[in-house]
Amino acid sequence: MSAPEQHLAPPREPDTLELGLPAPVRAPGLPAEVRIHEVGPRDGLQNESALVPVEVKAEFIGRLAAAGLRTVEATSFVHPKWVPQLADAEDLVPKLAGLPAEYPGLRLPVLVPNERGLDRALAHHVTDVAVFASATETFARRNLNRSADEAMAMFQPVVQRATAAGVPARGYLSMCFGDPWEGPVPPAQVIGFGVRLLEMGCTELSLGDTIGVATPGQVTALLDGFVRAGVPVERLAVHFHDTYGQALSNTLAALRSGITVVDASAGGLGGCPYAKSATGNLATEDLVWMLHGLGIRTGVDLRALVGTSAWMARKLGRPSPSRAVQALLGDQG
Ligand code: HMG
Ligand code: MG
Repeated sequence: MSAPEQHLAPPREPDTLELGLPAPVRAPGLPAEVRIHEVGPRDGLQNESALVPVEVKAEFIGRLAAAGLRTVEATSFVHPKWVPQLADAEDLVPKLAGLPAEYPGLRLPVLVPNERGLDRALAHHVTDVAVFASATETFARRNLNRSADEAMAMFQPVVQRATAAGVPARGYLSMCFGDPWEGPVPPAQVIGFGVRLLEMGCTELSLGDTIGVATPGQVTALLDGFVRAGVPVERLAVHFHDTYGQALSNTLAALRSGITVVDASAGGLGGCPYAKSATGNLATEDLVWMLHGLGIRTGVDLRALVGTSAWMARKLGRPSPSRAVQALLGDQG
């Protein structure tokens, strides 16, 4: 029996784990490809106590593009007093002008809350914008200084004018699963606001778990609710923060419901300055490890991305909270 036994133990292939890459095994019912909407430079840096120099931000975005990310949310044209970390949007955007030619297909969306923000963004020739609504009253008041309905009225002309200018507008909806002031948020309330953003002309709706409280059953139920309300799942994206360690499980649930656009933040940077208890976003590296392990294409070079997050962590003076970054860097982390 010695010969067959040898067959049972074939010559050892190079171990993908040794190479710092997951061993891919496909699982049924999942997409072949996922587009990662990278939010590190915006959602990540908006919550840093240290002000990051504009040159570092530009290099960060360039490195993310070089690592294969093709949607990188660059900054926000919000009131500089509300988010001082992103007050340099006018200086940053021109520094990124050469990147789309260098990396074909690269999109660099920016957040705009109102027409003033849109004017500033269009003056700098941005190609994509995003408005950001709230599924709850309290967060609308804290984040946008308005009721949720007044905020929707503020976004209407922004989306209309951006679309007319050939600039697609993404819609974010925050507090889709729970709100630190109001508690659980009824799915019907979330779906109502979400449908309004899509009807307004938003090309894509990103469902935000701003404070990271969602669990996978809730994700499946909310996505089912949107589909029952007539929203094609292709128009939805998910945006998970990782406060309770649920972001990756929630992402897997979303993929099983047909989601193919996932927001994540390099190195797990992030939070929201106006949402009590919001911590970092799902780390892009943790997401890429899972997706590549499932044989799902992302176009991202994981090692280049880890190198970028390690570089950014040094600039910020603290280690990356991403588990994949810590594991892959080992002693160098
Ligand atoms: P407001 O004070 O009500 O503004 O703020 P206003 O319309 O009354 O105007 C007051 C002054 O601000 C005026 O100037 C405006 O021109 C000026 P004055 O005439 O007095 O000299 N102003 C602006 N200046 C520059 N850029 C602008 C702008 N707008 C007005 N865009 C406002 C309302 C919406 C502006 C404010 O609340 C704001 O900027 N909020 C942004 C908050 C924010 O960025 N939060 C983080 C992003 S959301 C997020 O992180 C969640 C997300 O990740 C998804 C998730 O996790 O759930 C997307
Ligand atoms: Mg967020």
